[in-house]
Amino acid sequence: MITQVLVLNGPNLGRLGIREPEIYGSVSFDALADLCRSTGRTLGLHVDVRQTDDEAEMISWVHEAADARMPVVINPAAFTHYSYALRDALAMRTAPLVEVHISNPAARESFRHTSVVAAVADGTVAGFGLVSYQLALQAIAGLVAEQAEHAPTAEQAEP
Ligand code: DQA
Repeated sequence: MITQVLVLNGPNLGRLGIREPEIYGSVSFDALADLCRSTGRTLGLHVDVRQTDDEAEMISWVHEAADARMPVVINPAAFTHYSYALRDALAMRTAPLVEVHISNPAARESFRHTSVVAAVADGTVAGFGLVSYQLALQAIAGLVAEQAEHAPTAEQAEP
């Protein structure tokens, strides 16, 4: 069975490739999206990659995922460090959630050392460039498989 996964990206990530390439690399956002989709295919995941600079739009996507019980990989970008609204939306999740970062925020400016979303995620992958996304998708595939293994069978489920 193919699992639908949302890969959500926050502000300024649409500028990948030209944005501070010494930190974020020279690969474009479109190439990152292709990488996520192809990685997903090898893991049995159908990956929908989105990017927004708008907090309200990001929150509406998180609501959509919760309503559809869809797993999420999210790079909240700068929202990571201050958006309690995004954190509260992510706390309503109904499926696996992995936080991802291209750089290693812990090794950067002190304002990046706090993630207000980390505590509501299953885990965080940071510091491996675009490979962070591939590792996050691998984690999602593992969590989905684990959930399926523990899901009650039709006979065990309440009528
Ligand atoms: C980032 C790290 C954040 O601190 C920063 O605001 C970003 C990108 C990363 O992927 O390394 O925009 O999330």
